[in-house]
Amino acid sequence: MLRIGVMVSGGGTNLQAIIDKINNGYLESCSIVTVVSSKEGVYALERAEKYNIPIECIAKRDYCDFEEYDRALVEHFNKYNVDLIVLAGFLSMIGEKLIESYKNRIINIHPSLIPSFCGKGNYGIIPHQKAIEYGVKVTGATVHFVEPEYDSGPIILQKAVYIREDDTPQTLQKRVMEEAEWEILPEAIKLFSKGKLYVEGRKVKIKAVTRN
Ligand code: GRF
Repeated sequence: MLRIGVMVSGGGTNLQAIIDKINNGYLESCSIVTVVSSKEGVYALERAEKYNIPIECIAKRDYCDFEEYDRALVEHFNKYNVDLIVLAGFLSMIGEKLIESYKNRIINIHPSLIPSFCGKGNYGIIPHQKAIEYGVKVTGATVHFVEPEYDSGPIILQKAVYIREDDTPQTLQKRVMEEAEWEILPEAIKLFSKGKLYVEGRKVKIKAVTRN
């Protein structure tokens, strides 16, 4: 059984996509054992509680320094014997202790085709606003392994979404979630759970998958 820890900061639609794919059997032998939020009262926590998933709010501001916050996250995921940490709409920076302790076992979903519209300050609706303003014809989402720099780790999966003439940042965000994010994040977890991902330098190699 792959024990998954999910980190959230908002509505939790990506968390819901993982829960649904576990419940419909696509993510077989996977279980979410803990959901950690960067702040209290976000809807993602209500989603987790509905499925009796243990929740915890571990907020940076509650610790006297970043190191202590970093240590608290490591202790939490160690306590739950987590195999894979998934950043699903998690907006806080995570520390080097956690990244080192879970080397190539932390993945993040970002709402653009990295390296476009990513990095510090590019979260939520902003990458979609920038994609429309810049006039690109295609955007999408990216799942990557996490490294200390925002959105910088080796890329596991990407999915493109065409931008329509009449798109607003909101309509584009909704379509990128539905057509890309909620598909490639569970798929990346599935590949990880089957031991199909190999990191070679900056690249992620995917061993041939047997489609169920
Ligand atoms: C998503 O677009 C995700 O890619 C980004 O934050 C947004 C929040 O998603 N990192 P969610 O509904 O909280 O999963």
